[in-house]
Amino acid sequence: MEHTGNYLAALNFYIDAGVDEVIGTAPVDRFAESQMAAAAAGAGAGVEALSPAPSRAPSRPAVAPAATTAATAAATVPLQARTEAEISARALAAGAVDLPALRAVMDNFDLCPLKKTAATTVFGAGNPAAKVMLIGEAPGADEDRQGQPFVGVSGQLLDRMLASIGLDRGSVYITNMLAWRPPGNRKPTIEETTMCLPFIRRHVELVAPRILVFVGGTSAATLLERRDGITRMRGRWFEYPPDGSNVSGDAIPAMPIFHPAYLLRQPALKRLAWIDLLAIKARLQDIN
Ligand code: URA
Repeated sequence: MEHTGNYLAALNFYIDAGVDEVIGTAPVDRFAESQMAAAAAGAGAGVEALSPAPSRAPSRPAVAPAATTAATAAATVPLQARTEAEISARALAAGAVDLPALRAVMDNFDLCPLKKTAATTVFGAGNPAAKVMLIGEAPGADEDRQGQPFVGVSGQLLDRMLASIGLDRGSVYITNMLAWRPPGNRKPTIEETTMCLPFIRRHVELVAPRILVFVGGTSAATLLERRDGITRMRGRWFEYPPDGSNVSGDAIPAMPIFHPAYLLRQPALKRLAWIDLLAIKARLQDIN
């Protein structure tokens, strides 16, 4: 009972301090970190004076140090564990005969480190019989809390984008490349993506859409196996899977579009997003 009181007091302290979400499971010793950083700076002081570190503009909002450390810890998975996770994900995904079965295996899959820090498995939403399937990157904080893809601010913009071409959540199916929120909303690592790839590939096979829309560069580059950025890929039709082999039939026409979160930061690009949406609408009319 005394412990419960202590935990509640600690939680209240965190809430008062503005700490309102869990981003890691292991404590981080900040004192040890800053001592090491000071020691390293002392050792490298001479070199630094000659060559100042290049400044790097982060492509995402800066992540708090705590998130970065927790994220790195979660992302550092030994090779053997990674391989086992990939083999297991492949076997489980291949054995899922329908969407409820796929959801069940993903719900029970504990080998992806992201699952440990996420609150929920965000599987998918919308109409699984829809002709259009949208694939984003990974759940954010709102999606993690509600267990549904694209329900936060970027999801609201996505809804408006869909509405502009006569679509809504009843006429599309929406999911993400990763079903678990990366801590602190950091970009998923290549290991995490590779580990979870069999799930999203099977997801696409089971939904079997007529058109795929990759929402943002991460799902587009990963699933199309390309190294281009979204600016080069957006608005172009590709074939999924990229090698053209589709166990359940023809290759699926696939278009990458700007991620709504990116459009919220770069509203001038909405003009291009509108052009892409019109192309999707036209293609959809062709196949109706
Ligand atoms: N961003 C994504 O890519 N997916 C979501 O579900 C939410 C935000």
